[in-house]
Amino acid sequence: MLGKPVVLVTRTLPPAVEERLRGDYDVWLNRDDRPIPPEDLPALARRLGAQAMLVTPTDRLERGVIEALPNSVAIIASFSVGYEHIDHNAAARRGILVTNTPGVLSDATADVALLLMLGAARRASEGERLVRSGYWKGLTPVQLLGRHLHGQRLGILGMGRIGQALAERARPLGLEIHYHNRTPIAEDAAKGAIFHATVEDLLAVSDVLSLHCPATPLTRKLLNAERLALLPPGAIVVNTARGILIDDEALIAALNSGQIFAAGLDVYDNEPDLHPAYRSLPNVFLLPHLGSATIETRTAMGFLALDNLDAYFGGREPPHRVA
Ligand code: DGY
Repeated sequence: MLGKPVVLVTRTLPPAVEERLRGDYDVWLNRDDRPIPPEDLPALARRLGAQAMLVTPTDRLERGVIEALPNSVAIIASFSVGYEHIDHNAAARRGILVTNTPGVLSDATADVALLLMLGAARRASEGERLVRSGYWKGLTPVQLLGRHLHGQRLGILGMGRIGQALAERARPLGLEIHYHNRTPIAEDAAKGAIFHATVEDLLAVSDVLSLHCPATPLTRKLLNAERLALLPPGAIVVNTARGILIDDEALIAALNSGQIFAAGLDVYDNEPDLHPAYRSLPNVFLLPHLGSATIETRTAMGFLALDNLDAYFGGREPPHRVA
């Protein structure tokens, strides 16, 4: 190949990642970080003669977009572990490789799951709003009473890297760990966590439920009204995985009725246009998809995306190829 490979980068990345990109590639960077409409990406890639695209979960690369990409594009490296935003089957048909960034964001995401769990259980949003409002009149014995987590059962739906990292953090808080996975994990990794063979069995024992499964057509609206009804009354629901795992109407109804005590959400269906009812419900603790948002983690994600590109352009198999 003559010269450096041309890489189209759709969003602004941490400084160290952009520096490495500038050193190793002929790179087009999104200077003002404005989202690029997906339908504009093929023309941009064609104009640049891009051989690679480095994209994020906000870039929805559906079939039409993948099919319209110029033949020069050989690899799409996603700056994320989730890759449901890329039609990888369409990419495979075009012979375009797709890669992701697993592993490096497990700790940061598990931290946020714990934050959401505590924030939802201890009514942190309501408390913070009260202090900011100027209407707080001082401590009262019955103000904003939350739920104690010690001794509760934490159900982890999807016991992969992030689920296991959450279990590590929850054990010292005195939570009993339960989980459902396609298959039980090894005993030394489970560390006493109790396996449930079905989602429904897990729900029945989850005083706190945390979602850690990938977004696929099979997991769309997995937590629907019927399944929410299986949770113990007053359960807490936490989601750091993907918004489409939850049937929003059903969760909102359960939060309104009190069947679910509170929810902690970092991800939403159709981000950033979340269901408007979430904004007005007092018993939801909301974050704007911050799971992996530490400088260390986002830099590590960028480096992993670049490791994938380096391997491909060096004639090797990318370490994290998903299609
Ligand atoms: C991912 O990597 O899939 C996250 O949602 C983005 O941090």
